[in-house]
Amino acid sequence: MTDNDGAIQSVLQEDRVFDPPADFIERCGGAWVESKEQYQTLHEQSIEDPEHFWGAVAEELHWFKKWDKVLEWECPDARWFVGGRINACWNCVDRHVENGFGDQTAIIWEGEPVGDAGPEVRRLTYADMQVEVSRFANALKKLGVQRGDIVTIYMGMVPELAIAVLACARIGAPHSVIFGGFSAQSIADRVTDAGSKFVITCDGAWRRGSVVELKANVDEALSMTDLVEQVVVVRRCENEIDMHAPRDVWWHDVVADVDDTCPCEEMDSEDMLFLLYTSGSTGKPKGIVHTTAGYLVHTFLTSRYTFNLRHHKNHVYWCTADVGWITGHSYIIYGIMQNGIPSLMYEGAPNHPGPDRFWDICQRHEVTHFYTAPTAIRAFMKWGEEHPRRHDLSKLEVLGTVGEPINPEAWMWYHRVIGHERCPIVDTWWQTETGGHMITPLPAATPTVPGSCTLPFLGIDAAVVDESGAEQPHGSGGLLVVRKPWPSMLRGIHGDRQRFIDTYFSRVDGMYFAGDSARRDERGYFWIMGRMDDVINVSGHRLGTMEVESALVSHDSVVEAAVVGMPHEIKGTGIAAFCTLSPDWSADDRLRDTLRAHVAEEIGAIAKPDMIRFTDALPKTRSGKIMRRLLRDVAAGREAGGDMTTLEDLSVLARLQDDED
Ligand code: WTA
Repeated sequence: MTDNDGAIQSVLQEDRVFDPPADFIERCGGAWVESKEQYQTLHEQSIEDPEHFWGAVAEELHWFKKWDKVLEWECPDARWFVGGRINACWNCVDRHVENGFGDQTAIIWEGEPVGDAGPEVRRLTYADMQVEVSRFANALKKLGVQRGDIVTIYMGMVPELAIAVLACARIGAPHSVIFGGFSAQSIADRVTDAGSKFVITCDGAWRRGSVVELKANVDEALSMTDLVEQVVVVRRCENEIDMHAPRDVWWHDVVADVDDTCPCEEMDSEDMLFLLYTSGSTGKPKGIVHTTAGYLVHTFLTSRYTFNLRHHKNHVYWCTADVGWITGHSYIIYGIMQNGIPSLMYEGAPNHPGPDRFWDICQRHEVTHFYTAPTAIRAFMKWGEEHPRRHDLSKLEVLGTVGEPINPEAWMWYHRVIGHERCPIVDTWWQTETGGHMITPLPAATPTVPGSCTLPFLGIDAAVVDESGAEQPHGSGGLLVVRKPWPSMLRGIHGDRQRFIDTYFSRVDGMYFAGDSARRDERGYFWIMGRMDDVINVSGHRLGTMEVESALVSHDSVVEAAVVGMPHEIKGTGIAAFCTLSPDWSADDRLRDTLRAHVAEEIGAIAKPDMIRFTDALPKTRSGKIMRRLLRDVAAGREAGGDMTTLEDLSVLARLQDDED
């Protein structure tokens, strides 16, 4: 297939099957999908007639005007709920207030610092959200934000982040949220690509007891572009910052004298709701475009069914992701709030002030639904089970994972130590591009197998195929594709139509290619095997190896760099960088530290290489292509295998293998 074949993990043999707990439905007061048979029937019907299926789901939302047609599909362009008029904020907030549930909790927020009186906690009801969001929406309008303007959001995990996102949706201004761990350079690139004139940020964010200087990063980014006219700053950490008048204004000032009612814009179903940048095969992150109605319908239904969320059942749902990633967009804000469920937001690190912080939060807030990444679970395993054991986790009903394959050992630990062997685990496979869950168990219906994301969600026609589109026999690896359109699929890459077509719809004719390889077992269950492109999954975060390479070669010392993934106990995949140096630099640990800091400066701390090896040449084919497969073997400490007949200079490889760093 590709040069990346070496990344495909060995095929796991896993025979343990866990049926949904017998008392699950009773304990949870019901389930949306109650059995495997019901799932199968629903899935068949939904694939045969997706328009009927998704149309019925859409009926549950609030529309200013109903759609004329559920779907228009001309590959690669999907238009869902054509002719409908809808507003995302109305469906997440106002709908609940209108229905008499305004006093229900919408957001439970907990800050990181723990003072003598415990951590700071804020609760906002749906009625509070309506007021707060309306006020900030009015403030945005006063600052000149108009329908269609893209607003950049670079904030920590504070309630104002959710308020800002929903305020943008309210007035029809697409948001582009940038994870607070990204660097000034990354902000500048995204602001420029989006043509964004407005930025919302915080003075700082608490992380592991220190302040991340968000506003200073914005200042530095804005010295690289003069596009931005206004910056709104939330005061959170009270760290010292520069306020550049008239560009910079405080959040609390701009909301002080505005009205607390603001109408929701009537948006077309296909109007852009947001842009979210993610890594791809090239050095430049791509802005994934999501539109309004289809995204809402899909995240509404997946939240409800995957987690078995039921209104008024004293649910407290907690997704530990950051809103800066798609998981936070879909399953902290849009999907969860459409279901009227309290969504918990936690500001800081999982091990601050101690390694039991998450379990302390679960106990105090009586968390019923917990959604996290395998990398976090592996860290908890390492810290020891005494930490969760000290806390009452008896309220938990459903556990979820996302972002990367979960190794069966971590799955079992999660099941045993956190779930006390009575909580189904939903291992959800999906992507920034898919907007919502695509392959996942349903907690009352799907028997689970550690390490498998099991079966496609309703309405999703996922398959494992070869390059011609032919379905692969059970057990054989192939390309993971989706053969039919689904409501929350990406509508494009901002400003790059060709890249959209080439990346997702060219590999297999007429089908969406996800970039992952997978296989199905005899039950038809999906096993994700890994990325087939130059994307690596570091702690569940997507990074392009070329992004890291560009960052490395932008340093004076590096002439050429090749970056590959390597196995990492906690992160799943770590980053290994091979660099050739210009002659005036010496290959030592000081330079390694400098380069790691440089990559953090260029992209963000998540992109820092775990290992840097200096080499006098990189292994290349005769046509000059870097042989990443060999580098992956070297980085993993494996004997380099496979076909080496095209390797230009075998001694290069021998030297790399000998060279211990
Ligand atoms: C990987 C995150 C295995 C996969 C929602 C995908 C997974 C990429 C799983 C998308 C899972 C996500 N099992 N692999 N349950 N979930 N992935 O865009 O490689 O940040 O293509 O979206 O993460 O990452 P993204």
